[in-house]
Amino acid sequence: MVNCIEQDSLRNRRSVYGLGKLSASVNGCLEDSIKSCLLNCPTPFNVQSARLVILLNKHHQILWDKIWNNLKGIIPSQRQKVTEEKIKGFAKAYGTILFFEDKDALRELKKQFPAYRKNMKIWTQQANGMLQFMIWQIMAENNIGASLQHYNEIIEDDVYSMYDLPKNWELVAQMPFGSIEKEPAEKTFLPLDERVKIFK
Ligand SMILES: Cc1cc2nc3c(=O)[nH]c(=O)nc-3n(C[C@H](O)[C@H](O)[C@H](O)COP(=O)(O)O)c2cc1C
Repeated sequence: MVNCIEQDSLRNRRSVYGLGKLSASVNGCLEDSIKSCLLNCPTPFNVQSARLVILLNKHHQILWDKIWNNLKGIIPSQRQKVTEEKIKGFAKAYGTILFFEDKDALRELKKQFPAYRKNMKIWTQQANGMLQFMIWQIMAENNIGASLQHYNEIIEDDVYSMYDLPKNWELVAQMPFGSIEKEPAEKTFLPLDERVKIFK
């Protein structure tokens, strides 16, 4: 007997941009849940090359201040106001998870399995995406909002010195998270029968 997937729990995971602070009492549970996702997420050849940095409090604020500082010099003037509001909105969240891939682990994996070297980076990136999704889903199940951001080019030269990180960690994504202050807009869906074929 197969239990049907709880559809609401999947539907409830959304890109939430209106985020606020959480009570610090969630920290222990949240940290354990994130570590559990990292441990249990599948990876190609069990390489476990994903790395995470969890930024809370001033560390989270400093990230978004720096992103805005780096961005404002390069975006057109007509985009300044809307972009500043967006970035300052992320700063209002409770924390940010930075997702990385360990480049040394990837290099070793390619050496170990040369026949698959062409696809290895794609697979490690896919696994990183699975991890992002696991964490995003677990947050949603605990009524914590989050979104996925990619300010990689804007911040990747700075994160190493800001947080004293190894240079072989390649930045993949940023996930600001916190209390849900504004519900996301309704989502539209393409027809399922155009996207899935079932033969039985
Ligand atoms: C691989 C990937 C990259 C994404 N990058 C961004 C991003 O850089 N900025 C952003 O605001 N949303 C980003 N998103 C979120 C999508 O825009 C969002 O998931 C999609 O519109 C569906 O909305 P939902 O998350 O509310 O279901 C990304 C999503 C995925 C899966």
